[in-house]
Amino acid sequence: MSALRAVAPAPAIVGEVGEHRVPVHLGPGLIDLVGALWAPQAAGPAVLLIHDGAVSGLAVRARASLEAAGLRVVRAPVEPGEASKSLAEVERLCRLAAREGIRRADCVLALGGGVVGDLAGFVAASYQRGVRLVHVPTTLLAMVDSAIGGKTGVDLPEGKNYVGAIWQPRMVVMDPGALDTLPARELACGFAEVVKYGLLDGAALFEEVEAWPALPGPAEDLAGLIRRCVTYKLGVVAADERDLGLRAVLNLGHTVGHGIEAAAGYERYRHGEAISLGLLAALRISEREEGLAPEWRERTRAVLARHGLPVALDPAVGVHDVLAAMGRDKKADARALNMVLLPRPGEPRTHRDPDPALVRGAIEELVA
Ligand SMILES: NC(=O)c1ccc[n+]([C@@H]2O[C@H](COP(=O)([O-])OP(=O)(O)OC[C@H]3O[C@@H](n4cnc5c(N)ncnc54)[C@H](O)[C@@H]3O)[C@@H](O)[C@H]2O)c1
Ligand SMILES: [Zn+2]
Repeated sequence: MSALRAVAPAPAIVGEVGEHRVPVHLGPGLIDLVGALWAPQAAGPAVLLIHDGAVSGLAVRARASLEAAGLRVVRAPVEPGEASKSLAEVERLCRLAAREGIRRADCVLALGGGVVGDLAGFVAASYQRGVRLVHVPTTLLAMVDSAIGGKTGVDLPEGKNYVGAIWQPRMVVMDPGALDTLPARELACGFAEVVKYGLLDGAALFEEVEAWPALPGPAEDLAGLIRRCVTYKLGVVAADERDLGLRAVLNLGHTVGHGIEAAAGYERYRHGEAISLGLLAALRISEREEGLAPEWRERTRAVLARHGLPVALDPAVGVHDVLAAMGRDKKADARALNMVLLPRPGEPRTHRDPDPALVRGAIEELVA
């Protein structure tokens, strides 16, 4: 217990989502306390530990912690990469769970980035009609975004995230120390979402983001920054668990961003890199449609560029293809293109059908 006090000084953030209470524990060293944090809430004796193959060291520590707390651990590594978000993997993992005797009262623990979080979350939502889920995100993107909100799912060859469920975790444990091994490019991708939160939340958070030194930055400060992003997302999700309206604000930068990702065949740009460009396009359209002061786009561009995120679209990616891909985005309404725009930081609003010429113009302006 003294170890618990020593490394878990900050109280958990607690999100209220529908009838669910989602405690989020956040602090350096918490990976070694996963067992102590989970055991008091566990209803069954076993944990299916689904983890990214790139974080085996963290998996060993999490397993030791769970076993020290008296839990039986079944370890299930997953190949790194988006290709693992497949129905074939869901079947493999569910069958492994069945062979290993995982029961309804047991738990799935997802240890990895958004890929493992989405995949393991969907396994938890589906296996025996749903078992408890614990998220232990290990990328910056997963910490500030995918581990919060309960969206889970896998891809089909026909489209990304086409099969899924909303399934809230019973607990989320974030250890910023897990980011020590994360490649710089992945850190920057997560930071693009952090910049998004800065714009959504308003000037104070934006200024903190803008002043951020090189990534990852001081661990305690990073924990504070992640905490503010998580708190923002939990607030929005709590108000709109099933994604009926308000939650759409989280898509700032994502309408054009998804279009760029898809048009570039999901290869040229990582998600966060496409969002970097999508944010700049959304701000440009906001200037024209909502009167946003141009200074915000300049400042956003500067902070994105400083962290190595793209601020100009590769000319090899066709503007026409981006527009076409936006039309296929599953989030796009059949009749209208919904975009989140910003009259000023901190005041996102959903805009139906922005002028198509403005949208095209904003994407054209991105081309170097
Ligand atoms: N559910 C949601 O609400 C939500 C939100 C945003 C994104 N997503 C999904 O998240 C996925 C992207 O997540 P991501 O950016 O975390 O990618 P990812 O899970 O693929 O992780 C990125 C890379 O980092 C490696 N990695 C992970 N943790 C590491 C660590 N600590 N040290 C070293 N390497 C590590 C992984 O092996 C991978 O190569 C996409 O599939 C996207 O659809 C879901
Ligand atoms: Zn995103």
